[in-house]
Amino acid sequence: MAKMEVKTSLLDNMIGVGDMVLLEPLNEETFINNLKKRFDHNEIYTYIGSVVISVNPYRSLPIYSPEKVEDYRNRNFYELSPHIFALSDEAYRSLRDQDKDQCILITGESGAGKTEASKLVMSYVAAVCGKGAEVNQVKEQLLQSNPVLEAFGNAKTVRNDNSSRFGKYMDIEFDFKGDPLGGVISNYLLEKSRVVKQPRGERNFHVFYQLLSGASEELLNKLKLERDFSRYNYLSLDSAKVNGVDDAANFRTVRNAMQIVGFMDHEAESVLEVVAAVLKLGNIEFKPESRVNGLDESKIKDKNELKEICELTGIDQSVLERAFSFRTVEAKQEKVSTTLNVAQAYYARDALAKNLYSRLFSWLVNRINESIKAQTKVRKKVMGVLDIYGFEIFEDNSFEQFIINYCNEKLQQIFIELTLKEEQEEYIREDIEWTHIDYFNNAIICDLIENNTNGILAMLDEECLRPGTVTDETFLEKLNQVCATHQHFESRMSKCSRFLNDTSLPHSCFRIQHYAGKVLYQVEGFVDKNNDLLYRDLSQAMWKAGHTLIKSLFPEGNPAKINLKRPPTAGSQFKASVATLMKNLQTKNPNYIRCIKPNDKKAAHIFNEALVCHQIRYLGLLENVRVRRAGYAFRQAYEPCLERYKMLCKQTWPHWKGPARAGVEVLFNELEIPVEEYSFGRSKIFIRNPRTLFKLEDLRKQRLEDLATLIQKIYRGWKCRTHFLLMRKSQIVIAAWYRRYAQQKRYQQIKSSALVIQSYIRGWKARKILRELKHQKRCEEAATTIAAYWHGTQVRREYRKFFRANAGKKIYEFTIQRIMQKYFLEMKNKMPSLSPIDKNWPSRPYLFLDSTHKELKRIFHLWRCKKYRDQFTDQQKLIYEEKLEASELFKDKKALYPSSVGQPFQGAYLEINKNPKYKKLQDAIEEKIIIAEVVNKINRANGKSTSRIFLLTNNNLLLADQKSGQIKSEVPLVDVTKVSMSSQNDGFFAIHLKEGSEAASKGDFLFSSDHLIEMATKLYRTTLSQTKQKLNIEISDEFLVQFRQDKVCVKFIQGNQKNGSVPTCKRKNNRLLEVAVP
Ligand SMILES: Nc1ncnc2c1ncn2[C@@H]1O[C@H](COP(=O)(O)OP(=O)(O)O)[C@@H](O)[C@H]1O
Ligand SMILES: [Mg+2]
Repeated sequence: MAKMEVKTSLLDNMIGVGDMVLLEPLNEETFINNLKKRFDHNEIYTYIGSVVISVNPYRSLPIYSPEKVEDYRNRNFYELSPHIFALSDEAYRSLRDQDKDQCILITGESGAGKTEASKLVMSYVAAVCGKGAEVNQVKEQLLQSNPVLEAFGNAKTVRNDNSSRFGKYMDIEFDFKGDPLGGVISNYLLEKSRVVKQPRGERNFHVFYQLLSGASEELLNKLKLERDFSRYNYLSLDSAKVNGVDDAANFRTVRNAMQIVGFMDHEAESVLEVVAAVLKLGNIEFKPESRVNGLDESKIKDKNELKEICELTGIDQSVLERAFSFRTVEAKQEKVSTTLNVAQAYYARDALAKNLYSRLFSWLVNRINESIKAQTKVRKKVMGVLDIYGFEIFEDNSFEQFIINYCNEKLQQIFIELTLKEEQEEYIREDIEWTHIDYFNNAIICDLIENNTNGILAMLDEECLRPGTVTDETFLEKLNQVCATHQHFESRMSKCSRFLNDTSLPHSCFRIQHYAGKVLYQVEGFVDKNNDLLYRDLSQAMWKAGHTLIKSLFPEGNPAKINLKRPPTAGSQFKASVATLMKNLQTKNPNYIRCIKPNDKKAAHIFNEALVCHQIRYLGLLENVRVRRAGYAFRQAYEPCLERYKMLCKQTWPHWKGPARAGVEVLFNELEIPVEEYSFGRSKIFIRNPRTLFKLEDLRKQRLEDLATLIQKIYRGWKCRTHFLLMRKSQIVIAAWYRRYAQQKRYQQIKSSALVIQSYIRGWKARKILRELKHQKRCEEAATTIAAYWHGTQVRREYRKFFRANAGKKIYEFTIQRIMQKYFLEMKNKMPSLSPIDKNWPSRPYLFLDSTHKELKRIFHLWRCKKYRDQFTDQQKLIYEEKLEASELFKDKKALYPSSVGQPFQGAYLEINKNPKYKKLQDAIEEKIIIAEVVNKINRANGKSTSRIFLLTNNNLLLADQKSGQIKSEVPLVDVTKVSMSSQNDGFFAIHLKEGSEAASKGDFLFSSDHLIEMATKLYRTTLSQTKQKLNIEISDEFLVQFRQDKVCVKFIQGNQKNGSVPTCKRKNNRLLEVAVP
């Protein structure tokens, strides 16, 4: 299958016409309108044949992306819409594939976009040529040379914020494969006057501002600079800041670029030192000083700046100071020194600054060239890119503008020559007859300027070299004499009467009618600038500098090489370099980019027709089109032509088998295009008139529409038919399926109906039989029932007597027995623990067993208590008896009782027999001791207490001293009548004695003890067992105690918290003893 290839053409989707040669009719107005229309649609590029016109958009357009580069790569020039990339690609491929050296000439006014265009060309070539580490480094160095040169050579002007103030021609060198090897840069005439003075609204070279804004404090200190622009006379202040330009950031970019290009650190530093020295030179000021002999002399006002410059550059201060005050002229072994007046001193200073800077710039270019120069000696192919300052017309035009405009004249000249030459060559190549056309040839203007005998430059040189007083006026006079008759020279003073009354032409000026317009040149300064004089004293001072770079910039300052011959003038130098350039360009295949500035405001979207018209005129673009169309407006190789139009003829459509040229012939015959309208070249068809091409295009468009309709028609027919066939096929399938489905449905319906009917009939039959059978069965059952009842009656009648009497009771008893049995068996398994204090007891299962259940619980409890008691020894039994006794006596009566329950009753707390201290006491007692304990005996007189040993034996109660064990009192138990105590939680008790007994002589005892309950119980029990009498125990909160003769009332008061939790006793008066119980 044939490969589908989409052939595009410049002619597709054109806005206006993409190539001006197709413009119909061709005149200035249509030309401008076409440019404007395209500009308004963001199409900034338009062709004139192979020349690219570029209109500066003054804003970034998305047409330079890597994708665009890919689009234009390896495509034919006319295949895509006009673009600078198409031209770059054409040039690069022609260089690589056809071995033709190329040059790309970029022309246009200042600010028209030349420098941008040159950068675009370079970046395109860099993107499409070979890759690899080494190649990439070369590319990078070539590209990075731009920022460095722009920093030192570009400045803001009223026309362009980044105007190149030097001409630049760069040869990029390639090897046979098309890989870049290196490059060579030539620079032309830096506008050095800018260093010392800038027109209003313009700036000095970028580098000064970049250095002051971007350098670190440290670097500034080192360079002895201050950041403030206003400190420097050479910097114009009114436009020191440029919108959208970050000087500080650019400074870093430049430093970085210098590094990439290969500047050593010390080199970059030296360069900045020179820049600093230039800046500081501007701050040196002079004042007049008159000497006795009447000669004017000047003196430096403030030597501080001078000192710093000398420190920076390593120049002897006195040497430099002298060079600013004297001028030495040497002629034939004679040396004459004259003093400089103030004006001369300033002139010398500025000349030095300008020379220093411009020589530094040339040094930079050479240094860059050293870095980027190709390393091999093999034959190289070359692509030159020329970005030279554009034609300039200012209010005041001086020597610089004259030189610049001269250069542009020359370029226009070469443009005309080369375009014509190329055109002619193509006609010859294609074997087409050449028709001559008229156009303005500016050779005559070039001649006016550069002619060796009477050209303006020659005249200027002559004037400069002439002995005697030479001024700008004498130069103008000379011009007036020599050039007066020249068509393009105008001067008020010339003999030619034409301009005698022209007031627009001042006396100190001359005017040249350049190809691009008339320019008025101020003659002032021409001689000086052409001489470009630097006093020898200054160059010698510079040569003596310790700074190697500065020294190398002024080789002529070396006294050993003194050369009395004048150096060549600026004009002649420039003329020579332009001549070299032109020669160089002529050996190469030219490619043109003609830049046009759409407005003067640097603004986007504005298209000033008058301004554009002016540029079109002086660029001679219309003539360019005419030259190109001379004879034939349009040409195209046979293959693409046949490819594009073959559908217009039956024989060539869709495929032409023969050679393309024959095909085109057949095609043109068939279309009946008049023979005079076209010509057959060797490889191309030449079309005389754009109309014919447009007619072809129209026909093609029409035919394409027809073809589209045809294709559409056939496609639609085919589509409908296929659709129909598909539908028909589908319909049959659907019908078949449907029929089958319907039959199936019907069959299933019939079948199910038959089943229903069948089942009904069967059901009816079965029910009938069932009814009969049921009847039969009921009859049988009835008979059986009747028989059963009858038998039952008979049997009951017979056995009644056996039943009624006993059965019920027996059954009842049996049932009860079974229940009881079950109850007990269950109880056996549910018995609670043997602990007497366990309260658990299973719930009762039957209501009628309620009392049994309770009884059983009681019995069980008694039983387990007995079991518990049976474990006791006799001693334990005794203790429990005692406890029981205590419970009977005190439970619920005395508040102290509950705390005693848990205490075991020990009786003999004091083990008297073991303590030798109580030996005597023990010896005195023969009976068994029941209680031996220390108690507090309360002194009845004051309520204070003393410790006593309390002993209870079977028959007696003894009190002994606790320390000595000596018996204090002995009371037989028969004499104890009563024991009194309170109902509260205290241990006080009184022992009342029988009145009249021996013991009672001192009165009753009042004690307090921790074991009151135990003591009282034991006392009670002992008394009972010995005397068979119950001891009276009185529990009352107020009782009387015998006290010798008196009775004292002991009263218990509750709630006195004064002494904490201990009960206290206090004698209130002789009748009352108060015990406070907490
Ligand atoms: N192709 C472009 N796209 C966008 N802006 C452009 C283009 N060409 C030029 N410019 C703008 O115009 C300004 C001047 O261009 P420049 O190339 O420096 O002019 P010239 O070198 O002709 O004096 C640039 O700084 C840039 O802002
Ligand atoms: Mg420029």
